[in-house]
Amino acid sequence: MARIPTLEDLGDVSGKRVLLRTDFNVPLDGTTITDDFRIRAALPTIEWLIARDAEVVCASHLGRPKGKPTPEFSMAPVRARLAELAPGVELLENLRFDAGEEGNDADFTARLIEGFDLYVNDAFGASHRAHASIVGPPKVLPSAMGRLLQKEVDVLLGLRTNPKRPFVAVLGGAKISDKLGVVEALLDVVDALAIGGAMCFTFFAAQGKSIGDSLFEPDQVETCARLLDAGKTIHLPDDIVGVDANGTYATFGTWLPDGAKGLDIGPGSAAAFSDVIMDARTVFWNGPMGMFEDERFAAGTRTVAQAMADTKAFTVVGGGDVVAALGQFGLDDEVDHVSTGGGASLELIELGDLPGLEALRAAPNAPGEDPGREETGR
Ligand code: 3PG
Ligand code: MG
Repeated sequence: MARIPTLEDLGDVSGKRVLLRTDFNVPLDGTTITDDFRIRAALPTIEWLIARDAEVVCASHLGRPKGKPTPEFSMAPVRARLAELAPGVELLENLRFDAGEEGNDADFTARLIEGFDLYVNDAFGASHRAHASIVGPPKVLPSAMGRLLQKEVDVLLGLRTNPKRPFVAVLGGAKISDKLGVVEALLDVVDALAIGGAMCFTFFAAQGKSIGDSLFEPDQVETCARLLDAGKTIHLPDDIVGVDANGTYATFGTWLPDGAKGLDIGPGSAAAFSDVIMDARTVFWNGPMGMFEDERFAAGTRTVAQAMADTKAFTVVGGGDVVAALGQFGLDDEVDHVSTGGGASLELIELGDLPGLEALRAAPNAPGEDPGREETGR
C-alpha cells in the first residue's frame, strides 16, 4: 500500500496557500466553547506550516446544520478562539452550511480549493466521513496528513498491530449495537475486555439474568451471547448501583429486581476493573461506566479514570463522553493518548482504514509502496 504523505512530502511550503481541514467541531454552550481541546490539537500542524512561511486557511464543520446556513452553528466563536491561539490564521465558515460538503459534490470541492496550492488533512475526527472537504482536495492538490492525524493513526493502528500485552479494552456507554463492529475487531486483538455502562445489561440478559427496568437492547441479546462464547476473557460487573422501583438509590448484585434500574457499576466491579487496568500494559477505554453526570452514579467511571491515570500501561482513550468524564475528574492530562475522534477512532480500530486516509494515499504527491509498514498502510 502507498504511504500516506506527511507534511515533509509537501516539499517547500514557503509562500504557498494551504487549505487545512481541521475538526473544530467543539462543544458549545450558546456561543461559549466549553472545551477547546480539538482547536489546541491542531496547533502543532498550524505552527509547523507557519514556521515555514505558508499561508494557512482552516476549514471545519460544526454540528449538523443540514446543508443550510444556521446561525447557531456559525464558526464565529471558534474563529475567535483560533485567533487567540494562532493569530493570523483564517477560518472559513462552517463547511456544512453547503449541502455539497456532506454530498461530496465535485463543484463544491472545486470552489473550496480555488486559490489553494496545497491541502492538509488534520481533521482526524471527521476522516471517517467521505465528505467533500475530506476526500475531494487530495484528488487535485498535493496533500498531506497533519501531525494530529499522523499521531492518531500511529497510536490507534498500533493497538491493532502490535500492542504491548496484556492488552485490555474497557468499554461502556449505552448501546452495544453502536460498537459491535469495534467490539468484534477488539476481540481479535485484546487479551481481555471489561464491559460496563448500560451495555452490560444486554450481556446480563444474554446470561439469563433479570435486569429490572435497566436499559438494554433486546435485539442484541443473541449477539452478546455469541460474544460471551467467543473464548475471550470478558469481565462483566458483579455489582451494580442504581435506583429501586421507588426511585431510591440502591445497590444490587447482578440480578436486578422488578422496577430497579442499574445506572453505574458497583464499587466491587470498579475495583476489579481497576485491577485489570493496573495489570495491563496497554489499555483502550471507550464509553463511561455509568451515568457520571449525576454524582451518585459517577463512582464507577471515576474509579476507572483513576486507574487509567495510575497504571503504568500505555493508555488510550476515545469518545467525547469519556474525554468529558476525564476532564470532570481533572485527569485528562494523565492518559497517554486522548483521541480527538469518537466515531473515527472506533472505525479506524474496527476497519484499519478511513476514507480520509485512503484519499491521502491517492494524492498526486503520495510516495509509492512502503513494504516495511504495509499492515498499517503507512
Ligand atoms: C464528531 O464530533 O464526531 C466529528 O466532528 C464528526 O461529526 P459528525 O459525527 O457530525 O460527522
Ligand atoms: Mg460523531
